[in-house]
Amino acid sequence: MTSFESHPWFNEDTDSPEYNFKIVFIGDSGVGKSKLTDRFKNNQFLPDSKATVGVDFSNHVVKIDRKFVRLTLWDTAGQERYRSFASSYFKDADGIFLVFDLTNPDSFDSLEKWIELANSHIALESVSLVVLGNKKDLEEQRKVSAEIISDFVHKKGFKYFETSALLDENNNVCKAMQALVEEMMGIEHEASVTSEKLKQLSFQNVNRKDEADNKGGCC
Ligand code: GTP
Ligand code: MG
Repeated sequence: MTSFESHPWFNEDTDSPEYNFKIVFIGDSGVGKSKLTDRFKNNQFLPDSKATVGVDFSNHVVKIDRKFVRLTLWDTAGQERYRSFASSYFKDADGIFLVFDLTNPDSFDSLEKWIELANSHIALESVSLVVLGNKKDLEEQRKVSAEIISDFVHKKGFKYFETSALLDENNNVCKAMQALVEEMMGIEHEASVTSEKLKQLSFQNVNRKDEADNKGGCC
């Protein structure tokens, strides 16, 4: 897999993104969707924590094979009471991160429920979906075995990454993002680009010029 690099020279006035992808983070409350989004966007993990209300969204630009790709990240609320937002966050989604907490088996059991919810709003075969087992840093508290996860993702045909928004030692948050974006581009390019070719594409993070002085994302 190719690596991510920071490239703080995207200029909204002169560089127009060739792709626009909407990516939705779903999963139970507390699994770490907001922290993962923050790790991807700002390469940080802030100690404060508030449950998301409704949905938060933000734009992010990356560069793949000399093409700018704008990602709109929809960080949704896991709490049941915000389920009425589902039709807006699934509408026109290109990619989904389905997140559970490796220390919380209930959050893993909920994945089927989240898939059903997604399925009731969009045709799942038309979107790319990557499963994230988060809080990998809490290895001694892990309660969801690799075997169970492996059965699930193989049966469903989903890609799977174990992540830690807190430590992200293996850069897996960005590797997962890269895999999702490559898959979305693969869907768009099915007729002309082989998957082997896609694997060779370079994937770079591009922050907007006006954000150049800020700390960039993790990619
Ligand atoms: P909702 O917004 O309610 O849907 O929750 P969420 O999925 O956005 O969870 P959030 O990102 O707010 O994180 C919930 C709690 O888990 C917070 O206390 C975080 O600090 C903690 N957390 C998130 N990611 C990690 C991680 O990778 N490792 C550890 N140890 N804690 C994490
Ligand atoms: Mg949240």
